[in-house]
Amino acid sequence: MPRFNRPLLRALSVFVLSSGMAAVAAPAGAQQSGEVILDARCSSCHDRLADGRISRIGEIRKTPEGWDMNIARMIIMHGVEITSEERGALVKHLSDTQGLAPSETRDWRYILERRSGVFEDIPDEDLGVMCARCHSYARTALQRRDEAEWVKHAHFHQGQWPTTEYQALGRDRNWWELASTQVPKRLGELYPLQSEAWDNWKARAAPDLSGSWRVIGNRPGKGAFQGVAVLAGKGNDAYGVKMFLFYADGSKANGEGEAILYTGYEWRASVTLDGEDTLQVMAVSAGGGEMSGRWFLEDPDSIGGDIVLARAGKGAAARIMAVFPPHIRIGETATLTLHGVGLGGDIDLGSDVSVDRIVSRSSDIIVVEATASGSPGARTVVAGAAQGPDALMVYDKVDSIRVEPAYTIARVGGGAIAPVPAQFEAVAFMDGPDGVPGNDDDVRIGVMPAQWTVGNHGDFAAALDDAKFAGAITQTGLFEPAVAGPNPARPFSTNNAGDLAITASVDVGGQSLQGTAQLIVTVQRWNDPPIR
Ligand code: HEC
Ligand code: HEC
Repeated sequence: MPRFNRPLLRALSVFVLSSGMAAVAAPAGAQQSGEVILDARCSSCHDRLADGRISRIGEIRKTPEGWDMNIARMIIMHGVEITSEERGALVKHLSDTQGLAPSETRDWRYILERRSGVFEDIPDEDLGVMCARCHSYARTALQRRDEAEWVKHAHFHQGQWPTTEYQALGRDRNWWELASTQVPKRLGELYPLQSEAWDNWKARAAPDLSGSWRVIGNRPGKGAFQGVAVLAGKGNDAYGVKMFLFYADGSKANGEGEAILYTGYEWRASVTLDGEDTLQVMAVSAGGGEMSGRWFLEDPDSIGGDIVLARAGKGAAARIMAVFPPHIRIGETATLTLHGVGLGGDIDLGSDVSVDRIVSRSSDIIVVEATASGSPGARTVVAGAAQGPDALMVYDKVDSIRVEPAYTIARVGGGAIAPVPAQFEAVAFMDGPDGVPGNDDDVRIGVMPAQWTVGNHGDFAAALDDAKFAGAITQTGLFEPAVAGPNPARPFSTNNAGDLAITASVDVGGQSLQGTAQLIVTVQRWNDPPIR
């Protein structure tokens, strides 16, 4: 079975960014050159239909990553020849003219943001077994086609991978019959080509995002950061990016890079920060005043966190974006830093949290000394016109510790494919109104420093002593997997895969509280396309 090879994929994951950049900077309008490229590179196999659309291509809508993967498949499977610049311009053109509206991607952004360990919310179990056992369900839910086009898509699957019918969860049912009748019908209803959301969205002009922005983010294992981004429009939705970031722990990360805005809201940036190559996948809000999503290392992309940008400077909406640290204990006097835009006027930290002293203030940053009393719960923080709903959590005591993520995977590696680490955080909770830990009414306080240990999860892991072989955890909660391949030191010379219990111990006023997560350490992923 032909498959993607690793070097091509490595190019692919950054492809949309790098080559698209060159292409959209070209003088010819991206729209027009897109049509020219379609005719030159695609129409030899895909006819123009009577209504002017191109067969197959004109009958589908998808994300930038979806279009890029599609073109990659045309190159690998059907020998299409296309330059990097043309491919970038085509991804831009197709995403702009046949993309998805913000409401159509909202539930599935985790796959674009390359978040790991996500449990997908699939409409029903049958659809999951049929269409989400080789790849994510989000890959399907991020495409729009009518029933007849979903049928053709099923034909491509069966033609390309005839063994599908005979695999587990394929031979217990009439897979092909379902895949070519019921499933396309259902998908055509759930995800049709035409939608009001898209019709309304595609008519809008893309916003100009040039200017300065306030940045708030988090790097699990290191902590929160804040700072400034300066975006410089270069035409055709391409931008130069400069970032100046400051971590709450006192360290800095500056850098620059480039970005493209697809479909009027899909922000894709590649920024080198403090020597590290990062990718940033964000969705721009409808008004163009905010963008949010995830930033991550280009490799390994399991390392990264949430990021939010809000427009700063003249005319920007006033807002409190974050309070560092985001929690204060009742009876405690602490230094709190408010971050945001347009922070003028009176400061209010919510009921029973007094501002004892203003240490310093600017329109972006206010440092105060504050004392909390009263009852536990979230407080809305205000500075003049700027508001931060639930920006500060007042707590009386830490009742329990949870490890986040509660369940995830890491991958052994070395040689051709680097290992994929997993990053954990210890998060403090209050029990909430019912006084019972571990349920939905628990109140999240925030991340706490912890001591980390690795144990076996379950009897089978204990029998093979996975904890000894699968890897080790650092005291910042970073699990680093062991090398790939058979290990003669293990029973049956098995590899270094494992089923582990990751435990965080947090010192809470002299008492040690613990939380545990499950980590599956598994084998390498040899084929790692932009949408898993
Ligand atoms: C050499 C012939 C050839 C060329 C040139 C070609 N394709 Fe295809 N394309 C195919 C074939 C065959 C299929 C159906 C099988 C499949 O999906 O792989 C297909 C299917 C597709 C589909 C439907 C895939 C799906 O998800 O169901 C899209 C979209 C597409 N091509 C886009 C393109 C684009 C864009 C180009 C130009 C960059 C292109 N093709 C050039 C042969 C070609
Ligand atoms: C036997 C494994 C398997 C099953 C079952 C499967 N797929 Fe796929 N699917 C694949 C592979 C492999 C690819 C191609 C991956 C690539 O291009 O990187 C793919 C690609 C796709 C794509 C992206 C294609 C493109 O170029 O735009 C979509 C959408 C998709 N599948 C939907 C479905 C749906 C809907 C079903 C259920 C009817 C399904 N898949 C069932 C293996 C599977």
